[in-house]
Amino acid sequence: MIRNDIKALAAYHVPDSADLIKLDAMENPFTMPDALRKSWSEQLAQVDINRYPDADMQGLREKIAARAGVEAGQVLIGNGSDEIIQMLLLAVNPGTCVVPEPTFVMYDLISRWLKRHVATVPLDKDFSLNAKRLLQVCAREKAGIVFLACPNNPTGNLWPEETIRQIASNFNGLLIIDEAYGPFSERTHTHLIAANVMVLRTFSKLGWAGLRLGYLLGDAESISHLNKVRMPYNVNALTQASANFLLDHFAVFEQQAAEICSERERVMAAFMAMDEVQAFPSQANFILIRVADADVVFDGLKAAGILVKNMNGAGGLLAECLRITIGTRDENDAVLTAIREIMA
Ligand SMILES: Cc1ncc(COP(=O)(O)O)c(C=O)c1O
Repeated sequence: MIRNDIKALAAYHVPDSADLIKLDAMENPFTMPDALRKSWSEQLAQVDINRYPDADMQGLREKIAARAGVEAGQVLIGNGSDEIIQMLLLAVNPGTCVVPEPTFVMYDLISRWLKRHVATVPLDKDFSLNAKRLLQVCAREKAGIVFLACPNNPTGNLWPEETIRQIASNFNGLLIIDEAYGPFSERTHTHLIAANVMVLRTFSKLGWAGLRLGYLLGDAESISHLNKVRMPYNVNALTQASANFLLDHFAVFEQQAAEICSERERVMAAFMAMDEVQAFPSQANFILIRVADADVVFDGLKAAGILVKNMNGAGGLLAECLRITIGTRDENDAVLTAIREIMA
């Protein structure tokens, strides 16, 4: 009854994090200030939950558009950016999905659900991306769509704008620039939006992972077509009300993102001072490190009450690597202390 290729898939695994310091999923470690939390809950109490949510979300799209410097008609809202990746892979012309390797796993997984072939372009040892090589793969594989996570997950680096421009101007399929970690990076890419270039964003890493809200910015015509494969009520009424509220208090979350970036630099400097740790430059809210034995360090951190993401199983460039989300100052200190003890 179920397709054999679906039976053969490994389900997306979410580990149990009960009682652990949770640094495995790039969440914002800060909770909402109390006064804000109170007015947010008052706002939620106003929602008429007996009614279906606003299907068109014109008001929310206007708010997002104003912040992004585009028109409301250029905004598509999804139940997390994962849902938008699914809409894109459903609607885009037939053809291979081309992605760098390693990158965010959902591009590959959702392509498989939809029986779309995936081709990967290996990154270099320093995680740089060769645009010419990627374009060759696109031509050879007759690619329909390319996803570039900028900064990339799980490596944390941001490829030069020139690399992205080169791909954008020489690829005739659809290029998606995924800015999930844009709030922590030195550069974003709305200025590159064109008929074949769109920018994907999420609220998840900014402090609102529980909301499930992502959005796509693109040219109005393509967005209007993509809207046809969006479930009519894909974003629930509580999420819509929350997003409207939070966008009115955006500065609070920008301040938290700035604090995360400064903690990232402090943690990076501490890693650089450890001979046993190779830390890769990051423009995201996490740092990828390589150690002699990632499984031992992962288990040691867990025994110390800290959950990070062990990338070792993926092999290749991620062999002996751990991805560590930046937490609060105390959480980061706990990580550094535990790693020093494990290494000693
Ligand atoms: C590059 C990238 N894109 C998209 C997502 C998914 O974000 P969302 O929570 O909006 O589905 C993630 C989550 O880790 C990610 O790393």
